[in-house]
Amino acid sequence: MKKIIETAFTAAKQVREHAYAPYSGFKVGAALVAKDSGTIYTGCNVENASYGATICAERGAVLQAIALGGPQEYEAIVIVSDDSPPAPPCALCLQVLVEFCSPELEVYLATLNGIEIRYTLKELLPHPFDGSALKTEG
Ligand code: THU
Repeated sequence: MKKIIETAFTAAKQVREHAYAPYSGFKVGAALVAKDSGTIYTGCNVENASYGATICAERGAVLQAIALGGPQEYEAIVIVSDDSPPAPPCALCLQVLVEFCSPELEVYLATLNGIEIRYTLKELLPHPFDGSALKTEG
């Protein structure tokens, strides 16, 4: 396993500890890796009493990347949960990842013990909504 992916796993596991999950008790951590710089952006799930306002860990990581780095190229995301087999990103998170990442983005799913499986973004969401039919002006 590439060193940067192992580093991202450690970052995702650490940020998972910050998850705010009093309703589900299910903590998730995510670490998004920028392609050239290797900068790692992290996120954890933050739940809400309304349930619907909950933000998943993966979207948290994307939001941090945009806020701190602006749109750039990403090579991988590592997602850590205490589930076996490890939980994949939900459909909302996949659609948000598609907005900013290549279809070749590597998606590593991990338990607390380590990475178990690797997908590409296009494998997990082969037919995203791409907005190409939307009117952008006038
Ligand atoms: N969750 C994530 O953080 N990522 C996912 O892709 C799936 C679900 C969180 C949201 C919620 O806080 C908890 O897991 C249970 O759904």
